[in-house]
Amino acid sequence: MKTEGETVAAETAAILEGILKRYRDDDGNIISILQDVQDVFGYIREDAVNWFSKKLDIPASRFFGVVTFYAQFHLRPRGKNIVSVCCGTACHVKGGSKIAEQVKKELHLNSEGETTNDKRFTFEVVRCVGACSIAPVVLVNSKVYGDMTVDSTSKLIKKLKEGAGAKK
Ligand code: FES
Repeated sequence: MKTEGETVAAETAAILEGILKRYRDDDGNIISILQDVQDVFGYIREDAVNWFSKKLDIPASRFFGVVTFYAQFHLRPRGKNIVSVCCGTACHVKGGSKIAEQVKKELHLNSEGETTNDKRFTFEVVRCVGACSIAPVVLVNSKVYGDMTVDSTSKLIKKLKEGAGAKK
């Protein structure tokens, strides 16, 4: 009989068992478990956390504490392409917020962290990526685009939607 915290589909349970096997003898290694969960599912699934919590007898709050502490972890599904607009000081002064608005408009998204329905794009805001000399900047995955304007942002997003430079 299943108990609370173990209620995941059989296929998911098999994946989680595989991760657990790697870290069972190192049950304090919450970060590695979470990294593997995110690698497999693309984000930190709550049911997966509850499953590990039960199996390892570690409160789920400890897992979520780690998730919220480290920026690398995400609690919501993300798109294949992450479009990040820098809103650090230099970029902000040079119109970063207008660029962010344009990205949202082009992707039909309302706020930071949202993902398009087709799961191709997620819009995020970042704070200074160390490219202030070419502010304002937009990142698509790890590629940096500098000296952006509302127009060039619009063109960039249109190109990405057509597939140029974006993960399909
Ligand atoms: S503030 Fe945007 S790169 Fe530094």
